[in-house]
Amino acid sequence: MARIAVIGVGAIGSVIAALLQQSGRHEVMLCTRRPMAGLTVETPDGAVSIKAMVLTDPTVAPQVDWVLVATKAYDVAGAAKWLDRLCAAGAPVAVLQNGVEHRERFAPYLPLESILPVMVDCPVERRSPELVLQRGQMHLKVPADDLGRSFVDLFAGTPADAAAAPDFQTVVWRKLCHNAAGVLSALALQPAGVMQGEAMGEVLLQIVRECAAVGRAEGAQLDEQVAEAVLQAYRDTPPDAVNSIYADRMAGRPMEIDARNGVIVRLGRKHGIATPCNQMAVALLQAVVG
Ligand SMILES: NC(=O)c1ccc[n+]([C@@H]2O[C@H](COP(=O)([O-])OP(=O)(O)OC[C@H]3O[C@@H](n4cnc5c(N)ncnc54)[C@H](OP(=O)(O)O)[C@@H]3O)[C@@H](O)[C@H]2O)c1
Repeated sequence: MARIAVIGVGAIGSVIAALLQQSGRHEVMLCTRRPMAGLTVETPDGAVSIKAMVLTDPTVAPQVDWVLVATKAYDVAGAAKWLDRLCAAGAPVAVLQNGVEHRERFAPYLPLESILPVMVDCPVERRSPELVLQRGQMHLKVPADDLGRSFVDLFAGTPADAAAAPDFQTVVWRKLCHNAAGVLSALALQPAGVMQGEAMGEVLLQIVRECAAVGRAEGAQLDEQVAEAVLQAYRDTPPDAVNSIYADRMAGRPMEIDARNGVIVRLGRKHGIATPCNQMAVALLQAVVG
């Protein structure tokens, strides 16, 4: 049994809490910035009502065995306020966020060896603060080291597909190729159906090719067809499907622009790789939020 704190109980954090509860082996605590009346996750196997301690004040948090962070990348500074007390006994911190800079984001707050990057892939939507709809299986991939294997063990016996990936760098860059393209929905203010258009498809290919070129320079193994595969995946998605950067823009929240596209521009510069489509997307969205 492990005492596990989940920081950020939105779409992903709620599904993670439901899975850990289903394991029947852990004591789960929910760290939120507002009180919660209740929480239900509609999973593909039925509704799970979460019965866990809810903490809203980082200054009275107990020490735990594991911390799982599932805030957006732009909320890292707030999430970090929980870490001093939760990690007082050296608990490792799994970062369940998009992008390729999980360790860099938490390096100002934690020793590098206690940070575990996690690639999280799950279609899930927050219907209200108390209700989350999980539309498919939770896939979790981590580096194939001792910490990664210990994280995978937390999910033993649950419906999650949790696994250690020998080439984690490739896993996160392949996911970034998909996420980078999602910016087109946020720019066009239209769900996935916008990718059906021929001109939009051409731009999507360019965005992903830039991402793949930078990923290869960073050591990821990405084949030449990755951009076409991402385009096909978007075109196979229901036209009304909403990705999270588009959902954030529609709701007037901050957006993960830097974690999903800015990083491609920054690392592209480092490697001398031009990334004009991503650069334009970042500039346009930054202009929107001011
Ligand atoms: N949703 C998906 O389908 C999906 C799929 C794959 C990957 N991801 C990635 O997973 C990560 C999490 O995404 P998400 O969709 O779960 O985000 P989300 O639904 O917006 O949930 C984030 C949660 O973090 C909470 N939070 C923010 N600051 C906090 C703080 N200081 N203390 C405690 N809680 C705090 C928010 O609280 P409030 O409720 O008060 O705003 C919110 O409940 C992102 O990097 C995302 O890109 C998402």
